[in-house]
Amino acid sequence: MNTSLKRLKEQNDALILAHNYQCDEVQDVADNVGDSFELSKIASEVNCSVIVFCGVDFMAENAAILSPQKNVLLPVRQATCPMSQMITSADVRQLKEQHPGAPVVCYVNTSAAVKAESTVCCTSANAVKIVNTLEADRIIFIPDWNLGQYLASKTDKEIISWKGYCPTHRGITLGDVLMKRHEAPDCEIIVHPECRPEVVAAADYVYGTGGMIRHAKMSSAPHIAIGTEVGMLHRLKTICPDKEFSALGETVCPNMKRTHVADVVRALERKEYQITVPEGVCIKAKHALDMMLEMGT
Ligand code: 13P
Ligand code: SF4
Repeated sequence: MNTSLKRLKEQNDALILAHNYQCDEVQDVADNVGDSFELSKIASEVNCSVIVFCGVDFMAENAAILSPQKNVLLPVRQATCPMSQMITSADVRQLKEQHPGAPVVCYVNTSAAVKAESTVCCTSANAVKIVNTLEADRIIFIPDWNLGQYLASKTDKEIISWKGYCPTHRGITLGDVLMKRHEAPDCEIIVHPECRPEVVAAADYVYGTGGMIRHAKMSSAPHIAIGTEVGMLHRLKTICPDKEFSALGETVCPNMKRTHVADVVRALERKEYQITVPEGVCIKAKHALDMMLEMGT
């Protein structure tokens, strides 16, 4: 590791967390690389003074909610998630009025204010388990419509979905899956549940990023194609160097690619950008995240 980064980490008693979609160089200097669920869990349990969160804003916000006593830094302020901006807390209140009694399951890709209006949070790693554990027969699921459709196919419950989407995963088409099958007939195809329903239906497996890694470790297939952000290729190749991995389409999340090692160094030098959540919102959002950690582990 870059020596100034190592020194800054020690001086600040800091931990660097990076999402699986981060640039290769950021993954390589991080203390932990993982999916949204794994990183939330680490943030809630770890003993340190500062967390540098290399990912997008809602992920750093989750860390700040789960560990309000720590200083959580997001190295690049513009690293945001467009899907998380597709629903507001006022939208959630309106949905609750329209569907009285239905619990609200919010995907982790949401703002703290939206989580504060929700019953329980979930990630792609535990969404099916959480929906099936809830007693209600009708569930409001926000904000990802594609993940909502996937959940509806995995449960007998009625899923009332919001119309949000991930622009990156929406770019993966059925044509990409068919082309891959034609080019590499022996490869396994795994896609993220944020993909379009026809892409999910044509894939061999559907997993969040952590599930993709667990599957790749166990699989005997020599070639695995993934339908998700390309940062996963570096992660998978590091963990399973003897396998071949390829991507479906040109799948880049521009926000996940904004952070570089120089930004991490600057974040620690200047203590930027500190992520804080107003106390009233934080308490309610923490409840939804704590419920997820309890039900979804
Ligand atoms: P994971 O929870 O699978 O890591 O996904 C997060 C995300 O932002 C997917 O686009
Ligand atoms: Fe948001 Fe999509 Fe980027 Fe994930 S890949 S952070 S859902 S825009």
